[in-house]
Amino acid sequence: MGNLENQWLTSLTRRTAIRSLMTGFVASTPLLRGQQDPYRDHSRVPAMRELVNAFDFEAIAFAKLPRDAYDYTALGVEDEFTLRRNRQAFAWVELIPRGIVDANSVVTATEVLGTQMAFPIMIAPTASHLSLHPEGEMGTHEGATAASNTPYIISNNASFPVDKIAKAASGPIWFQLYPKETLEDNRELIEIAQDNGCKAIVLTYDGAAGNSATGPRERALHDRHLGSNRLEQDANNGGDKTRATQGRRPPRARKYGLTGSGVGLDWKWVDSVRAVTKVPFLTKGILTGEDAAACVEHGVNGIVVSNHGGRAMDYGPATLEVLAEVVDGTQGRIPVLVDGGFRRGTDVLKALALGAKAVCLGRVPRWGLAAYGPAGSQRILEIVQGKLVMAMAATGRPTLASIDRTLVRTDF
Ligand code: FNR
Repeated sequence: MGNLENQWLTSLTRRTAIRSLMTGFVASTPLLRGQQDPYRDHSRVPAMRELVNAFDFEAIAFAKLPRDAYDYTALGVEDEFTLRRNRQAFAWVELIPRGIVDANSVVTATEVLGTQMAFPIMIAPTASHLSLHPEGEMGTHEGATAASNTPYIISNNASFPVDKIAKAASGPIWFQLYPKETLEDNRELIEIAQDNGCKAIVLTYDGAAGNSATGPRERALHDRHLGSNRLEQDANNGGDKTRATQGRRPPRARKYGLTGSGVGLDWKWVDSVRAVTKVPFLTKGILTGEDAAACVEHGVNGIVVSNHGGRAMDYGPATLEVLAEVVDGTQGRIPVLVDGGFRRGTDVLKALALGAKAVCLGRVPRWGLAAYGPAGSQRILEIVQGKLVMAMAATGRPTLASIDRTLVRTDF
């Protein structure tokens, strides 16, 4: 064996170093530490029924996914300040319980813009489910339907076309739209979504400046050098899976190398796209009372308070911090949904108390799908739903109508 070959066989490569780091991460999660047999040096992957909360699924997803697929789900932009703040904010809201309530009397069913739901919980639009499981978005839809018909907002950047996802199960679906350059391109996507049974269109306008070579999602850019660039490509397909590919115009060149769909957006544009939409039209990414009031003024039917799970712009506030301001900005005229860091039943309850009509989960169903396929998406949703019921009973708020701001004391 030559010197070089010897070196190659024995040296610590970047890849093996990273693999050891990953093993360290998994081993240090409370769930997997709890699985270790104290008498023998091995660990095992737990069965799904052993998992008790949404965080437990993340550890399994981490263990099962390639590094870049895990990172694509986990990452936030740049310093990931907003990503962390979304979670931290739940610690700044205390629940003040009231009275004695029969847990059997809890009622969670509600309705948002004509869509019935058994719990005020929906699935937020997230891209590229194929990177998590071979059944991709069809698996997510199946899991969501099995979990008491949880409504599922299909991402514009899904791995599969809307018609295929829609046919996979019977639960309610909405469609999320990223702005396209021409009204015709927007109309085409909206009509396909409507024809396939989507009951609302959600326009995401944050994340305007996308992933250029120096783009904000630095974790993904670093992972590029691990060998696969598959995910960022998939996430930037601009709805290609759903739209016809023939005769498409190439994107216009942009100043300063900006990519992404938000360049050129204004309220006139929103008005024109809303006008070609027949189902309720929502905007996602609102963070101030002022923007909320503008949405009402422009005839938008609902709002999703969102910072894209900390993936669009860093150093913004947590969504929970600004929720009450946005709700006040609408003066109760349109429903307000919220997402960003929701993992537990108490998290959902806090948002409802601050005025949200429902909460959307982004990473949670992704962890479920990656860990155990459609059954995992179902189970993880059921865990959050069950924990909401417990939280409502424990705080003496058996109905959604009985949840108001007197339930919480906020530290922001
Ligand atoms: C997203 N999000 C998102 N939003 C959107 O409007 N269209 C999209 O295609 C995507 N894609 C996407 C991919 C991944 C991997 C994540 C984690 C998120 C944002 C998503 O809808 C939602 O705002 C956040 O995920 C909410 O935060 P949590 O629940 O993930 O903490």
